[in-house]
Amino acid sequence: MKDMTDMPASHRPDRQNAPAWWQTEVIYQIYPRSFQDSNGDGIGDLAGIESRLDEIVALGVGAIWISPFFPSPMADFGYDVSDYCGVDPMFGTLADFDSLLAAAHARGLKVILDFVPCHSSDQHPWFVESRASRSSSKRDWYIWRDARPDGSPPTNWIGEFGGSAWTWDDTTGQYYLSVFLSEQPALNWANPDLRTAMLDAMRFWLDRGVDGFRVDAIIFAAPDVDGGDHPPNPDWTPAMGPARSQLQTRLAHQPGVFDVVRDMRRVTDSYPDRVLIGETSGTLNDVMPYYGADMDLFHLPFYFAMLSTPWQADALSALVARYEAALPDGAWPTLVLGNHDISRIASRAGVAQARVALTLLLTLRGTPVLYQGDEMGMDNATIPHNRVQDPWERRVPGLGLGRDPARTPMPWTDIDHGGFSTTEPWLPLHLPPEGSFARQATDPGSMLNYARRLIALRRAHSALSQGTYRQIHVGPDVMVFERRAGTNRLVVCLNMSATAQGVSASGVPVLSSCGNRVEAFVRKLVLAPNEAVILDVSPGG
Ligand code: NOJ
Ligand code: CA
Repeated sequence: MKDMTDMPASHRPDRQNAPAWWQTEVIYQIYPRSFQDSNGDGIGDLAGIESRLDEIVALGVGAIWISPFFPSPMADFGYDVSDYCGVDPMFGTLADFDSLLAAAHARGLKVILDFVPCHSSDQHPWFVESRASRSSSKRDWYIWRDARPDGSPPTNWIGEFGGSAWTWDDTTGQYYLSVFLSEQPALNWANPDLRTAMLDAMRFWLDRGVDGFRVDAIIFAAPDVDGGDHPPNPDWTPAMGPARSQLQTRLAHQPGVFDVVRDMRRVTDSYPDRVLIGETSGTLNDVMPYYGADMDLFHLPFYFAMLSTPWQADALSALVARYEAALPDGAWPTLVLGNHDISRIASRAGVAQARVALTLLLTLRGTPVLYQGDEMGMDNATIPHNRVQDPWERRVPGLGLGRDPARTPMPWTDIDHGGFSTTEPWLPLHLPPEGSFARQATDPGSMLNYARRLIALRRAHSALSQGTYRQIHVGPDVMVFERRAGTNRLVVCLNMSATAQGVSASGVPVLSSCGNRVEAFVRKLVLAPNEAVILDVSPGG
Protein backbone atom coordinates (compact mmCIF):
# COMPACT_ATOMS: atom_id res chain seq x y z
CA MET A 1 0.00 0.00 0.00
CA LYS A 2 1.29 3.45 -0.85
CA ASP A 3 1.98 6.07 1.80
CA MET A 4 -1.02 8.39 1.45
CA THR A 5 0.40 11.27 3.40
CA ASP A 6 2.55 12.57 0.55
CA MET A 7 -0.27 12.49 -2.00
CA PRO A 8 -2.56 15.46 -2.59
CA ALA A 9 -6.01 14.72 -1.13
CA SER A 10 -7.63 14.58 -4.55
CA HIS A 11 -5.30 11.77 -5.64
CA ARG A 12 -5.95 9.42 -2.75
CA PRO A 13 -8.09 6.33 -3.23
CA ASP A 14 -11.77 6.73 -2.43
CA ARG A 15 -11.81 4.80 0.82
CA GLN A 16 -9.88 7.59 2.50
CA ASN A 17 -12.04 10.35 1.06
CA ALA A 18 -15.35 11.48 -0.22
CA PRO A 19 -15.89 9.76 -3.57
CA ALA A 20 -14.34 11.29 -6.67
CA TRP A 21 -16.57 12.97 -9.25
CA TRP A 22 -15.95 10.17 -11.73
CA GLN A 23 -17.45 7.73 -9.24
CA THR A 24 -20.69 9.57 -8.56
CA GLU A 25 -21.46 11.39 -11.82
CA VAL A 26 -23.06 10.00 -14.95
CA ILE A 27 -20.83 10.35 -18.03
CA TYR A 28 -22.56 11.24 -21.30
CA GLN A 29 -20.84 10.15 -24.52
CA ILE A 30 -20.97 12.56 -27.44
CA TYR A 31 -20.21 11.41 -30.98
CA PRO A 32 -19.33 14.85 -32.34
CA ARG A 33 -20.15 14.21 -36.01
CA SER A 34 -23.74 13.53 -34.99
CA PHE A 35 -24.51 15.79 -32.06
CA GLN A 36 -25.16 19.28 -33.47
CA ASP A 37 -24.03 21.01 -36.65
CA SER A 38 -23.44 24.76 -36.25
CA ASN A 39 -22.31 25.77 -39.75
CA GLY A 40 -24.64 23.95 -42.11
CA ASP A 41 -22.23 21.39 -43.58
CA GLY A 42 -24.24 18.40 -42.32
CA ILE A 43 -21.58 17.36 -39.80
CA GLY A 44 -21.67 18.06 -36.08
CA ASP A 45 -18.96 20.24 -34.57
CA LEU A 46 -17.58 21.71 -31.34
CA ALA A 47 -19.58 24.95 -31.53
CA GLY A 48 -22.65 22.76 -31.98
CA ILE A 49 -21.86 20.87 -28.78
CA GLU A 50 -21.40 24.15 -26.93
CA SER A 51 -24.80 25.33 -28.11
CA ARG A 52 -26.41 22.24 -26.58
CA LEU A 53 -24.73 22.28 -23.17
CA ASP A 54 -27.90 23.42 -21.41
CA GLU A 55 -29.77 20.36 -22.68
CA ILE A 56 -26.94 18.17 -21.38
CA VAL A 57 -27.04 19.85 -17.99
CA ALA A 58 -30.83 19.46 -17.88
CA LEU A 59 -30.38 15.72 -18.31
CA GLY A 60 -28.46 15.71 -15.03
CA VAL A 61 -25.18 14.17 -16.17
CA GLY A 62 -21.95 15.44 -14.67
CA ALA A 63 -19.43 14.83 -17.47
CA ILE A 64 -19.18 14.51 -21.23
CA TRP A 65 -16.83 12.23 -23.12
CA ILE A 66 -16.33 13.51 -26.64
CA SER A 67 -15.25 11.00 -29.32
CA PRO A 68 -12.27 12.21 -31.42
CA PHE A 69 -12.33 15.64 -33.05
CA PHE A 70 -8.59 15.84 -33.85
CA PRO A 71 -7.24 16.43 -37.37
CA SER A 72 -7.96 13.27 -39.33
CA PRO A 73 -8.47 12.06 -42.90
CA MET A 74 -11.58 10.37 -41.40
CA ALA A 75 -10.86 6.89 -42.75
CA ASP A 76 -12.28 5.69 -39.41
CA PHE A 77 -14.16 8.91 -38.58
CA GLY A 78 -11.56 10.46 -36.35
CA TYR A 79 -10.04 7.29 -34.88
CA ASP A 80 -7.26 7.85 -37.42
CA VAL A 81 -5.50 10.88 -35.96
CA SER A 82 -3.03 12.93 -38.00
CA ASP A 83 -2.25 15.46 -35.25
CA TYR A 84 -2.76 14.63 -31.58
CA CYS A 85 -2.66 18.28 -30.53
CA GLY A 86 -5.15 19.94 -32.81
CA VAL A 87 -8.77 20.19 -33.93
CA ASP A 88 -9.94 19.08 -37.36
CA PRO A 89 -11.29 22.11 -39.28
CA MET A 90 -14.44 20.07 -39.83
CA PHE A 91 -15.08 20.29 -36.09
CA GLY A 92 -13.76 23.83 -35.53
CA THR A 93 -10.60 25.29 -34.04
CA LEU A 94 -8.61 25.05 -30.84
CA ALA A 95 -10.27 28.29 -29.80
CA ASP A 96 -13.65 26.60 -30.28
CA PHE A 97 -12.45 23.78 -28.06
CA ASP A 98 -11.25 26.17 -25.36
CA SER A 99 -14.57 27.95 -25.52
CA LEU A 100 -16.49 24.67 -25.21
CA LEU A 101 -14.34 23.58 -22.29
CA ALA A 102 -14.83 26.87 -20.46
CA ALA A 103 -18.57 26.82 -21.11
CA ALA A 104 -18.82 23.22 -19.86
CA HIS A 105 -16.80 23.98 -16.75
CA ALA A 106 -18.88 27.08 -16.07
CA ARG A 107 -21.90 24.75 -15.90
CA GLY A 108 -20.12 22.26 -13.64
CA LEU A 109 -19.66 19.70 -16.42
CA LYS A 110 -16.40 17.77 -16.66
CA VAL A 111 -14.94 17.12 -20.11
CA ILE A 112 -13.26 13.83 -21.08
CA LEU A 113 -11.44 13.42 -24.39
CA ASP A 114 -10.85 10.33 -26.48
CA PHE A 115 -7.15 9.47 -26.65
CA VAL A 116 -6.19 7.13 -29.51
CA PRO A 117 -2.74 5.82 -28.59
CA CYS A 118 -2.37 2.54 -30.46
CA HIS A 119 -2.49 3.81 -34.03
CA SER A 120 -2.24 7.11 -35.85
CA SER A 121 -3.42 7.99 -39.33
CA ASP A 122 -1.17 6.98 -42.21
CA GLN A 123 -1.20 10.72 -42.99
CA HIS A 124 0.36 11.63 -39.64
CA PRO A 125 3.74 13.31 -40.32
CA TRP A 126 5.35 10.69 -38.06
CA PHE A 127 4.17 7.87 -40.31
CA VAL A 128 4.98 9.76 -43.50
CA GLU A 129 8.52 10.03 -42.18
CA SER A 130 8.58 6.45 -40.89
CA ARG A 131 7.62 4.96 -44.23
CA ALA A 132 10.03 7.18 -46.22
CA SER A 133 13.05 4.96 -45.60
CA ARG A 134 14.25 2.09 -43.46
CA SER A 135 16.77 4.43 -41.86
CA SER A 136 14.25 7.15 -41.00
CA SER A 137 14.57 8.43 -37.44
CA LYS A 138 10.87 7.64 -37.02
CA ARG A 139 11.09 4.16 -38.56
CA ASP A 140 10.80 2.51 -35.16
CA TRP A 141 7.83 4.67 -34.09
CA TYR A 142 5.72 2.16 -36.02
CA ILE A 143 5.94 -1.63 -36.29
CA TRP A 144 7.74 -2.84 -39.43
CA ARG A 145 8.65 -6.41 -40.30
CA ASP A 146 9.93 -8.35 -43.31
CA ALA A 147 7.64 -10.59 -45.32
CA ARG A 148 7.87 -14.33 -44.81
CA PRO A 149 10.00 -16.08 -47.45
CA ASP A 150 6.91 -16.65 -49.61
CA GLY A 151 6.08 -12.95 -49.48
CA SER A 152 3.15 -13.35 -47.10
CA PRO A 153 2.68 -11.21 -43.97
CA PRO A 154 4.91 -11.87 -40.94
CA THR A 155 2.02 -13.47 -38.98
CA ASN A 156 -1.46 -14.75 -39.74
CA TRP A 157 -3.11 -12.06 -37.62
CA ILE A 158 -6.45 -10.80 -38.89
CA GLY A 159 -7.29 -7.10 -38.48
CA GLU A 160 -10.34 -5.96 -36.51
CA PHE A 161 -12.08 -4.80 -39.68
CA GLY A 162 -11.18 -7.95 -41.66
CA GLY A 163 -8.18 -8.82 -43.85
CA SER A 164 -4.57 -9.14 -42.71
CA ALA A 165 -3.42 -7.02 -39.77
CA TRP A 166 -0.33 -6.28 -41.86
CA THR A 167 -0.09 -3.84 -44.76
CA TRP A 168 2.59 -4.13 -47.44
CA ASP A 169 4.57 -0.98 -48.17
CA ASP A 170 6.26 -0.89 -51.58
CA THR A 171 8.63 1.99 -50.89
CA THR A 172 10.69 0.20 -48.28
CA GLY A 173 9.66 -3.39 -49.01
CA GLN A 174 8.33 -4.26 -45.57
CA TYR A 175 4.98 -4.82 -43.88
CA TYR A 176 3.65 -2.52 -41.15
CA LEU A 177 1.20 -3.58 -38.48
CA SER A 178 -2.28 -2.06 -38.87
CA VAL A 179 -4.72 -3.64 -36.41
CA PHE A 180 -7.76 -1.80 -37.81
CA LEU A 181 -7.54 -0.19 -41.29
CA SER A 182 -4.37 0.06 -43.36
CA GLU A 183 -4.84 3.79 -42.87
CA GLN A 184 -4.29 3.23 -39.12
CA PRO A 185 -0.67 2.08 -38.69
CA ALA A 186 0.06 0.76 -35.19
CA LEU A 187 2.27 2.97 -33.03
CA ASN A 188 5.24 1.35 -31.30
CA TRP A 189 5.07 2.15 -27.58
CA ALA A 190 8.26 0.17 -27.05
CA ASN A 191 10.09 3.10 -28.62
CA PRO A 192 10.91 5.61 -25.83
CA ASP A 193 10.70 8.67 -28.10
CA LEU A 194 7.26 7.69 -29.35
CA ARG A 195 6.18 7.09 -25.78
CA THR A 196 7.37 10.53 -24.72
CA ALA A 197 5.65 12.18 -27.67
CA MET A 198 2.34 10.49 -26.87
CA LEU A 199 2.50 11.29 -23.17
CA ASP A 200 3.25 14.89 -24.14
CA ALA A 201 0.09 14.88 -26.23
CA MET A 202 -1.87 13.91 -23.12
CA ARG A 203 -0.22 16.78 -21.25
CA PHE A 204 -1.16 19.18 -24.03
CA TRP A 205 -4.86 18.60 -23.32
CA LEU A 206 -4.50 18.25 -19.56
CA ASP A 207 -2.74 21.63 -19.51
CA ARG A 208 -5.73 23.10 -21.34
CA GLY A 209 -7.92 21.81 -18.52
CA VAL A 210 -9.54 18.61 -19.74
CA ASP A 211 -10.71 16.30 -16.96
CA GLY A 212 -9.42 13.03 -18.33
CA PHE A 213 -9.35 10.56 -21.19
CA ARG A 214 -11.12 7.52 -22.50
CA VAL A 215 -8.25 5.55 -23.97
CA ASP A 216 -9.02 3.81 -27.26
CA ALA A 217 -8.21 0.18 -28.09
CA ILE A 218 -5.58 0.01 -25.35
CA ILE A 219 -5.45 -3.79 -25.39
CA PHE A 220 -3.32 -3.61 -28.55
CA ALA A 221 -0.59 -1.33 -27.12
CA ALA A 222 2.18 -3.95 -26.83
CA PRO A 223 1.79 -6.71 -29.43
CA ASP A 224 4.18 -9.64 -29.27
CA VAL A 225 4.99 -9.19 -32.93
CA ASP A 226 7.64 -11.86 -33.07
CA GLY A 227 5.64 -14.35 -31.02
CA GLY A 228 4.12 -16.12 -33.99
CA ASP A 229 0.69 -16.92 -35.39
CA HIS A 230 -2.69 -16.83 -33.70
CA PRO A 231 -4.54 -20.11 -33.11
CA PRO A 232 -8.10 -20.51 -34.42
CA ASN A 233 -11.02 -19.66 -32.14
CA PRO A 234 -12.98 -22.92 -31.67
CA ASP A 235 -16.16 -20.99 -30.77
CA TRP A 236 -16.18 -18.81 -33.86
CA THR A 237 -19.22 -18.33 -36.05
CA PRO A 238 -19.12 -16.20 -39.22
CA ALA A 239 -21.57 -13.69 -37.74
CA MET A 240 -18.82 -12.69 -35.28
CA GLY A 241 -16.78 -11.26 -38.15
CA PRO A 242 -13.39 -12.42 -39.44
CA ALA A 243 -11.25 -10.98 -36.62
CA ARG A 244 -12.92 -13.17 -34.00
CA SER A 245 -12.02 -16.33 -35.94
CA GLN A 246 -8.67 -16.29 -34.12
CA LEU A 247 -7.67 -16.03 -30.50
CA GLN A 248 -5.54 -12.89 -30.25
CA THR A 249 -2.99 -14.56 -28.02
CA ARG A 250 -0.08 -12.43 -29.27
CA LEU A 251 -1.78 -9.19 -30.22
CA ALA A 252 -4.05 -8.34 -27.28
CA HIS A 253 -3.42 -7.91 -23.52
CA GLN A 254 0.33 -8.50 -23.70
CA PRO A 255 2.29 -7.73 -20.50
CA GLY A 256 3.81 -4.50 -21.90
CA VAL A 257 0.33 -2.96 -22.09
CA PHE A 258 0.28 -2.46 -18.34
CA ASP A 259 3.50 -0.42 -18.39
CA VAL A 260 1.99 1.80 -21.03
CA VAL A 261 -1.14 2.37 -18.96
CA ARG A 262 0.95 2.98 -15.85
CA ASP A 263 2.79 5.77 -17.67
CA MET A 264 -0.50 7.26 -18.82
CA ARG A 265 -1.84 7.12 -15.29
CA ARG A 266 1.26 8.82 -13.89
CA VAL A 267 0.74 11.68 -16.31
CA THR A 268 -2.97 11.84 -15.47
CA ASP A 269 -2.28 11.80 -11.74
CA SER A 270 0.19 14.65 -12.00
CA TYR A 271 -2.92 16.83 -12.47
CA PRO A 272 -5.54 17.01 -9.74
CA ASP A 273 -8.86 15.25 -9.99
CA ARG A 274 -8.54 13.72 -13.45
CA VAL A 275 -9.83 10.37 -14.68
CA LEU A 276 -8.40 7.67 -16.93
CA ILE A 277 -10.88 5.31 -18.57
CA GLY A 278 -9.85 2.31 -20.65
CA GLU A 279 -11.48 0.72 -23.66
CA THR A 280 -10.51 -2.66 -22.23
CA SER A 281 -12.29 -5.18 -24.42
CA GLY A 282 -12.03 -8.75 -23.19
CA THR A 283 -13.15 -11.37 -20.71
CA LEU A 284 -13.42 -10.77 -16.99
CA ASN A 285 -9.95 -12.24 -16.54
CA ASP A 286 -8.60 -9.99 -19.25
CA VAL A 287 -10.14 -6.83 -17.81
CA MET A 288 -9.47 -7.03 -14.06
CA PRO A 289 -5.67 -6.57 -14.33
CA TYR A 290 -6.29 -3.16 -15.93
CA TYR A 291 -7.06 -1.71 -12.49
CA GLY A 292 -3.47 -2.47 -11.48
CA ALA A 293 -2.37 -4.33 -8.36
CA ASP A 294 -2.06 -0.98 -6.56
CA MET A 295 -5.03 0.59 -8.35
CA ASP A 296 -2.44 2.44 -10.38
CA LEU A 297 -3.71 1.79 -13.92
CA PHE A 298 -7.20 2.74 -15.16
CA HIS A 299 -9.67 4.31 -12.75
CA LEU A 300 -12.39 2.83 -14.95
CA PRO A 301 -11.56 -0.08 -17.25
CA PHE A 302 -14.71 -0.71 -19.26
CA TYR A 303 -16.28 -4.15 -19.06
CA PHE A 304 -18.28 -4.88 -22.22
CA ALA A 305 -19.88 -8.26 -21.45
CA MET A 306 -23.42 -6.84 -21.22
CA LEU A 307 -23.22 -6.06 -24.94
CA SER A 308 -23.05 -9.75 -25.78
CA THR A 309 -25.32 -11.12 -23.03
CA PRO A 310 -28.88 -12.13 -23.95
CA TRP A 311 -31.41 -9.63 -22.61
CA GLN A 312 -32.70 -11.95 -19.89
CA ALA A 313 -32.89 -11.22 -16.20
CA ASP A 314 -31.10 -14.39 -15.10
CA ALA A 315 -28.26 -14.02 -17.58
CA LEU A 316 -27.74 -10.35 -16.71
CA SER A 317 -27.91 -10.97 -12.93
CA ALA A 318 -25.36 -13.76 -13.25
CA LEU A 319 -23.07 -11.47 -15.21
CA VAL A 320 -23.30 -8.73 -12.58
CA ALA A 321 -22.68 -11.27 -9.80
CA ARG A 322 -19.56 -12.61 -11.54
CA TYR A 323 -18.31 -9.09 -12.15
CA GLU A 324 -18.91 -7.93 -8.57
CA ALA A 325 -17.12 -11.02 -7.25
CA ALA A 326 -14.12 -10.48 -9.52
CA LEU A 327 -13.54 -6.80 -8.75
CA PRO A 328 -10.37 -6.37 -6.70
CA ASP A 329 -10.35 -4.37 -3.49
CA GLY A 330 -10.66 -0.66 -4.18
CA ALA A 331 -11.77 -1.13 -7.80
CA TRP A 332 -14.67 1.00 -9.02
CA PRO A 333 -17.06 -0.74 -11.46
CA THR A 334 -18.24 0.40 -14.88
CA LEU A 335 -20.45 -1.81 -17.03
CA VAL A 336 -21.06 -0.71 -20.61
CA LEU A 337 -24.50 -0.83 -22.20
CA GLY A 338 -24.06 1.19 -25.36
CA ASN A 339 -21.70 3.31 -27.43
CA HIS A 340 -20.93 4.36 -31.00
CA ASP A 341 -19.58 0.92 -31.94
CA ILE A 342 -22.57 -1.28 -31.19
CA SER A 343 -26.20 -1.72 -32.12
CA ARG A 344 -28.45 0.59 -30.07
CA ILE A 345 -29.64 -0.85 -26.74
CA ALA A 346 -33.27 -0.13 -27.72
CA SER A 347 -32.76 -2.49 -30.66
CA ARG A 348 -30.77 -5.13 -28.79
CA ALA A 349 -33.16 -5.32 -25.83
CA GLY A 350 -36.25 -4.34 -27.83
CA VAL A 351 -37.93 -0.95 -27.92
CA ALA A 352 -40.35 -1.97 -25.16
CA GLN A 353 -37.37 -2.65 -22.90
CA ALA A 354 -35.55 0.63 -23.55
CA ARG A 355 -36.58 2.16 -20.20
CA VAL A 356 -35.80 -1.02 -18.29
CA ALA A 357 -32.35 -1.04 -19.90
CA LEU A 358 -31.77 2.60 -19.01
CA THR A 359 -32.85 1.87 -15.44
CA LEU A 360 -30.38 -1.00 -15.21
CA LEU A 361 -27.53 1.14 -16.56
CA LEU A 362 -28.25 3.95 -14.10
CA THR A 363 -28.82 1.84 -10.99
CA LEU A 364 -26.02 -0.70 -11.15
CA ARG A 365 -23.02 -0.05 -8.92
CA GLY A 366 -20.34 1.99 -10.63
CA THR A 367 -20.05 4.74 -13.18
CA PRO A 368 -22.67 4.73 -15.94
CA VAL A 369 -21.73 5.98 -19.39
CA LEU A 370 -24.78 7.02 -21.34
CA TYR A 371 -24.42 7.13 -25.12
CA GLN A 372 -26.06 10.12 -26.82
CA GLY A 373 -29.62 9.35 -27.88
CA ASP A 374 -30.10 6.39 -25.54
CA GLU A 375 -31.82 8.80 -23.14
CA MET A 376 -34.49 9.28 -25.82
CA GLY A 377 -34.79 5.61 -26.69
CA MET A 378 -32.99 5.90 -30.03
CA ASP A 379 -33.08 2.58 -31.85
CA ASN A 380 -31.02 1.47 -34.85
CA ALA A 381 -31.54 3.41 -38.03
CA THR A 382 -31.82 1.58 -41.34
CA ILE A 383 -29.05 2.89 -43.56
CA PRO A 384 -29.73 2.69 -47.31
CA HIS A 385 -26.96 1.04 -49.32
CA ASN A 386 -25.82 4.25 -50.94
CA ARG A 387 -25.54 6.05 -47.59
CA VAL A 388 -23.25 3.53 -45.83
CA GLN A 389 -20.28 5.35 -44.26
CA ASP A 390 -18.68 2.92 -41.84
CA PRO A 391 -15.50 1.34 -43.25
CA TRP A 392 -16.22 -1.85 -41.33
CA GLU A 393 -19.58 -2.34 -43.08
CA ARG A 394 -17.92 -1.56 -46.41
CA ARG A 395 -15.18 -4.13 -45.87
CA VAL A 396 -17.30 -6.85 -44.26
CA PRO A 397 -20.83 -6.17 -45.53
CA GLY A 398 -24.06 -7.82 -44.55
CA LEU A 399 -23.10 -9.30 -41.17
CA GLY A 400 -24.65 -6.50 -39.14
CA LEU A 401 -21.23 -5.32 -37.95
CA GLY A 402 -21.65 -1.83 -39.43
CA ARG A 403 -21.85 0.97 -36.90
CA ASP A 404 -23.78 3.60 -38.87
CA PRO A 405 -27.18 2.52 -37.46
CA ALA A 406 -26.12 3.74 -33.99
CA ARG A 407 -24.40 6.90 -35.25
CA THR A 408 -27.21 8.85 -36.88
CA PRO A 409 -27.63 12.53 -35.95
CA MET A 410 -29.45 13.65 -32.82
CA PRO A 411 -33.06 14.37 -33.80
CA TRP A 412 -33.53 17.57 -31.83
CA THR A 413 -36.75 18.75 -33.47
CA ASP A 414 -39.43 17.69 -35.94
CA ILE A 415 -38.48 20.28 -38.55
CA ASP A 416 -36.27 19.60 -41.58
CA HIS A 417 -33.04 17.79 -40.75
CA GLY A 418 -34.19 17.44 -37.15
CA GLY A 419 -32.73 20.72 -35.97
CA PHE A 420 -29.37 18.95 -36.24
CA SER A 421 -28.36 20.81 -39.39
CA THR A 422 -29.73 23.10 -42.05
CA THR A 423 -28.71 20.62 -44.74
CA GLU A 424 -28.85 16.87 -45.38
CA PRO A 425 -26.69 15.30 -42.62
CA TRP A 426 -23.75 12.96 -43.25
CA LEU A 427 -25.92 10.03 -42.11
CA PRO A 428 -29.68 10.04 -42.57
CA LEU A 429 -31.78 11.43 -39.77
CA HIS A 430 -33.65 8.82 -37.76
CA LEU A 431 -36.39 9.49 -35.20
CA PRO A 432 -36.73 7.27 -32.14
CA PRO A 433 -40.13 5.63 -31.58
CA GLU A 434 -41.15 8.36 -29.08
CA GLY A 435 -40.21 11.18 -31.45
CA SER A 436 -37.74 14.04 -31.47
CA PHE A 437 -36.05 15.61 -28.46
CA ALA A 438 -38.38 18.64 -28.65
CA ARG A 439 -41.47 16.43 -28.69
CA GLN A 440 -40.22 14.34 -25.78
CA ALA A 441 -39.13 17.38 -23.78
CA THR A 442 -42.72 18.66 -23.66
CA ASP A 443 -44.27 15.27 -22.82
CA PRO A 444 -43.97 14.48 -19.09
CA GLY A 445 -44.45 10.77 -19.84
CA SER A 446 -41.65 10.58 -22.45
CA MET A 447 -38.55 8.45 -22.22
CA LEU A 448 -36.42 11.61 -22.10
CA ASN A 449 -38.28 12.86 -19.03
CA TYR A 450 -38.03 9.41 -17.49
CA ALA A 451 -34.25 9.54 -18.03
CA ARG A 452 -34.13 12.96 -16.34
CA ARG A 453 -36.10 11.68 -13.33
CA LEU A 454 -33.96 8.58 -13.11
CA ILE A 455 -30.71 10.55 -13.13
CA ALA A 456 -32.13 13.02 -10.59
CA LEU A 457 -33.05 10.09 -8.34
CA ARG A 458 -29.54 8.72 -8.71
CA ARG A 459 -28.12 12.06 -7.65
CA ALA A 460 -30.49 12.32 -4.69
CA HIS A 461 -29.70 8.88 -3.25
CA SER A 462 -26.20 7.96 -2.17
CA ALA A 463 -27.42 4.34 -2.21
CA LEU A 464 -27.58 4.57 -6.02
CA SER A 465 -24.43 6.58 -6.67
CA GLN A 466 -22.19 4.98 -4.05
CA GLY A 467 -23.96 2.17 -2.23
CA THR A 468 -23.41 -1.56 -2.14
CA TYR A 469 -25.11 -3.97 -4.56
CA ARG A 470 -26.99 -7.04 -3.38
CA GLN A 471 -28.96 -9.35 -5.59
CA ILE A 472 -32.38 -10.08 -4.06
CA HIS A 473 -34.31 -12.06 -6.60
CA VAL A 474 -33.57 -13.49 -10.00
CA GLY A 475 -35.81 -15.34 -12.37
CA PRO A 476 -35.80 -15.62 -16.12
CA ASP A 477 -37.96 -12.48 -16.35
CA VAL A 478 -37.33 -10.40 -13.26
CA MET A 479 -34.20 -8.91 -11.75
CA VAL A 480 -34.42 -7.38 -8.28
CA PHE A 481 -31.49 -5.93 -6.39
CA GLU A 482 -30.82 -3.69 -3.45
CA ARG A 483 -28.56 -0.65 -3.36
CA ARG A 484 -27.62 0.54 0.09
CA ALA A 485 -25.52 3.28 1.67
CA GLY A 486 -25.97 3.41 5.42
CA THR A 487 -29.66 3.87 6.09
CA ASN A 488 -30.40 4.87 2.50
CA ARG A 489 -31.79 1.70 0.88
CA LEU A 490 -33.43 1.34 -2.50
CA VAL A 491 -34.67 -1.77 -4.26
CA VAL A 492 -34.60 -1.87 -8.06
CA CYS A 493 -37.17 -4.16 -9.70
CA LEU A 494 -36.89 -4.81 -13.43
CA ASN A 495 -39.46 -6.71 -15.44
CA MET A 496 -37.64 -7.92 -18.53
CA SER A 497 -40.70 -9.61 -19.96
CA ALA A 498 -43.86 -8.55 -21.76
CA THR A 499 -46.17 -10.00 -19.09
CA ALA A 500 -47.01 -8.76 -15.59
CA GLN A 501 -44.81 -10.20 -12.84
CA GLY A 502 -45.33 -10.39 -9.10
CA VAL A 503 -42.32 -9.64 -6.90
CA SER A 504 -42.09 -10.14 -3.17
CA ALA A 505 -40.67 -6.74 -2.38
CA SER A 506 -42.21 -4.00 -0.29
CA GLY A 507 -41.45 -0.30 -0.01
CA VAL A 508 -42.42 3.10 -1.30
CA PRO A 509 -42.33 3.36 -5.10
CA VAL A 510 -40.23 6.40 -5.93
CA LEU A 511 -40.00 5.84 -9.68
CA SER A 512 -41.74 3.77 -12.32
CA SER A 513 -40.92 3.57 -15.99
CA CYS A 514 -44.67 3.41 -16.70
CA GLY A 515 -45.64 6.74 -15.15
CA ASN A 516 -46.67 7.67 -11.65
CA ARG A 517 -47.67 4.89 -9.29
CA VAL A 518 -50.40 5.94 -6.94
CA GLU A 519 -49.48 3.62 -4.06
CA ALA A 520 -47.81 5.24 -1.04
CA PHE A 521 -46.48 1.85 0.03
CA VAL A 522 -46.61 -1.57 -1.62
CA ARG A 523 -46.52 -4.86 0.24
CA LYS A 524 -46.30 -7.11 -2.78
CA LEU A 525 -45.28 -5.45 -5.98
CA VAL A 526 -46.89 -6.38 -9.26
CA LEU A 527 -44.76 -5.14 -12.12
CA ALA A 528 -46.57 -4.23 -15.33
CA PRO A 529 -45.13 -5.70 -18.56
CA ASN A 530 -41.73 -4.11 -19.29
CA GLU A 531 -41.89 -2.04 -16.11
CA ALA A 532 -39.02 -0.87 -13.96
CA VAL A 533 -39.85 0.25 -10.42
CA ILE A 534 -37.55 1.66 -7.76
CA LEU A 535 -38.70 1.22 -4.18
CA ASP A 536 -37.40 3.23 -1.27
CA VAL A 537 -37.02 0.81 1.61
CA SER A 538 -35.06 3.12 3.91
CA PRO A 539 -36.44 3.26 7.44
CA GLY A 540 -39.13 5.92 7.30
CA GLY A 541 -38.58 6.07 3.50
C1 NOJ B 1 -12.54 1.68 -30.83
C2 NOJ B 1 -13.38 2.83 -31.25
O1 NOJ B 1 -14.43 3.00 -30.32
C3 NOJ B 1 -13.85 2.53 -32.65
O2 NOJ B 1 -14.85 3.42 -33.07
C4 NOJ B 1 -12.65 2.56 -33.55
O3 NOJ B 1 -13.01 2.18 -34.86
C5 NOJ B 1 -11.55 1.62 -33.06
N1 NOJ B 1 -11.35 1.65 -31.65
C6 NOJ B 1 -10.24 1.95 -33.70
O4 NOJ B 1 -9.72 3.13 -33.15
CA1 CA C 1 -20.51 21.42 -39.01
